[in-house]
Amino acid sequence: MIQLIRGFKDILPGDIELWQQIEKIAVELFEDFGFKQIRIPIMERTELFKRSIGEDTDIVEKEMYTFADRKGDMITLRPEATASIVRAYIQHKMFAADPVQKLYMIGPMFRRERPQKGRYRQFYQIDAEIFGVASPLVDVQLIFLLTTLFSRLKVADARAHINSLGCPKCRPGFKTALREMLMSVSDRLCSDCIRRRDRNPLRVLDCKVPACREALVDAPSILDHLCAECKEDFAEVQQSLDRLNVPYVIDKRLVRGLDYYARTTFEIQTGSLGAQSAVAGGGRYDGLVKELGGPEMPATGFAIGFDRLAEICGLNSADLQRTPHLFVAALGAQSQAMAFEWICSLGLAGIRAEMDFSGRSLKSQMKRANRLGASHVLILGENELEQGTAILRNMQTKEQTTVGLDHVVENIKQVIFA
Ligand code: HAM
Repeated sequence: MIQLIRGFKDILPGDIELWQQIEKIAVELFEDFGFKQIRIPIMERTELFKRSIGEDTDIVEKEMYTFADRKGDMITLRPEATASIVRAYIQHKMFAADPVQKLYMIGPMFRRERPQKGRYRQFYQIDAEIFGVASPLVDVQLIFLLTTLFSRLKVADARAHINSLGCPKCRPGFKTALREMLMSVSDRLCSDCIRRRDRNPLRVLDCKVPACREALVDAPSILDHLCAECKEDFAEVQQSLDRLNVPYVIDKRLVRGLDYYARTTFEIQTGSLGAQSAVAGGGRYDGLVKELGGPEMPATGFAIGFDRLAEICGLNSADLQRTPHLFVAALGAQSQAMAFEWICSLGLAGIRAEMDFSGRSLKSQMKRANRLGASHVLILGENELEQGTAILRNMQTKEQTTVGLDHVVENIKQVIFA
């Protein structure tokens, strides 16, 4: 038997109802806040991700599914959505009509990480991006949206972590200080960190190797190196979060795993997922639109890990299961033919109706109705057919009523919608 690929998964009926509900609540919230949906391709030119996410990141160095297509062009299964949305924003000149664009997308992403709980090679993200607004207030609005969504989804243990990564003006000073510190602990760092120390020292702060994390406890904080504008910007984020009563933790170690960020970055973290504590992450990436060939344009956004969110969502999945309203237990060929017409009409009227197609006994049809969780059963045997009636049984109260076969669909609708 051919099994699915390691790190990939199926989401089956029974689980999917929760995913659908999460998606519905997220989409409603985004649309209420003026976001519009965008759909982007699953594959892009490899170059797009290299230039945006950064050559020294784990994603680009180790995790992308990259291959040459039949003509030798290098293409990559998208590991995230931001790069593609920026490409679309530039390619379709979306800024020309209005530089301010609020976009969201939901879909699969691909990263070849080591699979474990909360970490998959195909996973799903709920992504939101805001282009064209430089004010830190929109960063706050994104964090507010995240915490609102998490509370609507009854997530018990989720906290916003925030940090500022400075700007091209103040970050070089921090990088120099960090590099100096890294030199002093070089003998305790892994080979990736040694390489990144010289090329891109911020990436070292993101290393997951325990020995490296230990060596970095006394690493300098970027918050001590922010320029006046970045300081003011970060202070405004905090004041505005306070005014909105959004609790947060300032986390000077939060550098995120992608290179395009500047100024405010944030994550929603949980203690319920073991090592995979980040359920969502994002931040400001003001330089990226220009870097990818567009105009100078501020931008900010986030992505939620849908799989992780589904695992910690507090909605009761049993309440979301949709069982049939009606099971028609039809006995004999003529009853079956009538039942078939009725279930088609009932489906059009929004009533979920099932029947048996194999001519089983009443007993086994009742068993099946029970197993499906049907709330009512309509019993139609030869006797009933002769009398022009059928028996409608409420499976919970066991109460039975006789319904006339003329206008049966209308009669059933009345009982079920009553
Ligand atoms: P990210 O932090 O790489 O950010 O991913 C966002 C979220 O996706 C993570 O917090 C996590 O919940 C989920 N995630 C990442 N990798 C996996 C995995 N292997 N399995 C399951 N879930 C995973 C981004 O992707 C940025 N594009 C976010 C952003 C949007 N920044 C600005 N705009």
